[in-house]
Amino acid sequence: MNVLILGSGGREHAFALKLTESKKINQLFVAPGNAGTDKIAKNININPTDFKAVKKTVLENNIKMVVVGPEAPLVAGVHDFFLADNDLKNIPVIGPKKDGALLEGSKDFSKQFMQKHGVPTARYQSFTKDNLQEGFAFLETLAPPFVLKADGLAAGKGVLILNSLEEAKAELEEMVSNQKFGEASSTVVIEEFLKGIELSVFVLTDGKNYKILPSAKDYKRIGEGDTGLNTGGMGAISPVPFADDAFLNKVEELVVKPTINGLQKDGIDYRGFIFIGLMNDNGNPSVVEYNVRMGDPETEVVLPRIESDLFDLFEGVANQNLNTKSFSVTNKTATTVMLVSGGYPEAYEKGKEITGFDTVKESIVFHAGTTIKENKVVTSGGRVIAVTSFGNTIEEALEKSYKSIDKIYFDKINYRKDIGFDLV
Ligand code: AMP
Ligand code: GLY
Repeated sequence: MNVLILGSGGREHAFALKLTESKKINQLFVAPGNAGTDKIAKNININPTDFKAVKKTVLENNIKMVVVGPEAPLVAGVHDFFLADNDLKNIPVIGPKKDGALLEGSKDFSKQFMQKHGVPTARYQSFTKDNLQEGFAFLETLAPPFVLKADGLAAGKGVLILNSLEEAKAELEEMVSNQKFGEASSTVVIEEFLKGIELSVFVLTDGKNYKILPSAKDYKRIGEGDTGLNTGGMGAISPVPFADDAFLNKVEELVVKPTINGLQKDGIDYRGFIFIGLMNDNGNPSVVEYNVRMGDPETEVVLPRIESDLFDLFEGVANQNLNTKSFSVTNKTATTVMLVSGGYPEAYEKGKEITGFDTVKESIVFHAGTTIKENKVVTSGGRVIAVTSFGNTIEEALEKSYKSIDKIYFDKINYRKDIGFDLV
């Protein structure tokens, strides 16, 4: 069978590498892909939110399954587009329809969903410019720090955590009245600050049945010691040592089951990944957010730990018999360290030649923002390469990743030297 992956990051390279192991896949396509996916699959240079181009690609290449990496095409309705098209309606899409994608596409929707279905999460209220004064009043009832979230997609930048009430009020006004994050912040969710340590749990569901995949911890800040601006993610570790069986059982009972049941009760036929961002406060899980896709760079540690055929699970999702499928996971630890362009997550230059990555033997080199230009592999984004390694311990795996990184070079390369610092 021919399979198409939509997206171009490290996550999609990790999906592609995992799917190349499947004996059931004939030819693998990635759109648009990167210099890494180009080596193991066929890249098709189209935009994943250009559904007409996606359709053309699918029909021309006899593609029989589409795996959606990023949230944008899901929120824009790529799955609905397939179901509404006579030529495409029988081709399964791994990823929710628009209604399910709202779990990520609207913070207000996802908070309402959690509240309705009893999923533990921070207390909240939503505001627009029409009830700004009530927003100020709600802020006054909360203790700092104050958490303000743009309702819509804001490329990971729409969450503000502020220490002073004055600042929180000013930012709220900027968001709702002056569209600080564009249309995305015309509604703002204000919620209680959650204490604890963060981790991510990944669920694959066919709408009725689910599998809980390995958990991971992501390092979001640009600076060492978790300081500085937020990024898409600078590194990740799986499994998460503090997510023991007792905690994960609580997550399954209190979060995963009510989420899957809630989707069914609300008539949302959800086929795909649910990424649950959690706070662990003294052994009690609380949901920070849902995403409707896998995490990046979490995928670069989660998928390499899965030993069985991922495509088999995808068939389970497509045929709604995920309950008949099983998978195995290595108990080794996987770590990934993200190499980024100097300046990221603010302005940075692209087009820098990358060398040495093909000499790495001890680690898996996942390309993220890379492309091929005049036969050279060059940087094309902020996050450039994720270097994943296995070990019996976090330390062992990290040591390998850092040794491999020493072999890779591009101008103004930057990365965090302290991934896992809080766990070892
Ligand atoms: P989100 O886009 O919802 O993932 O938020 C971005 C980051 O802000 C999260 O990964 C958390 O680190 C932090 N965050 C969001 N909501 C809260 C909260 N209620 N309490 C504490 N931290 C939060
Ligand atoms: N690494 C966080 C995310 O994918 O949203």
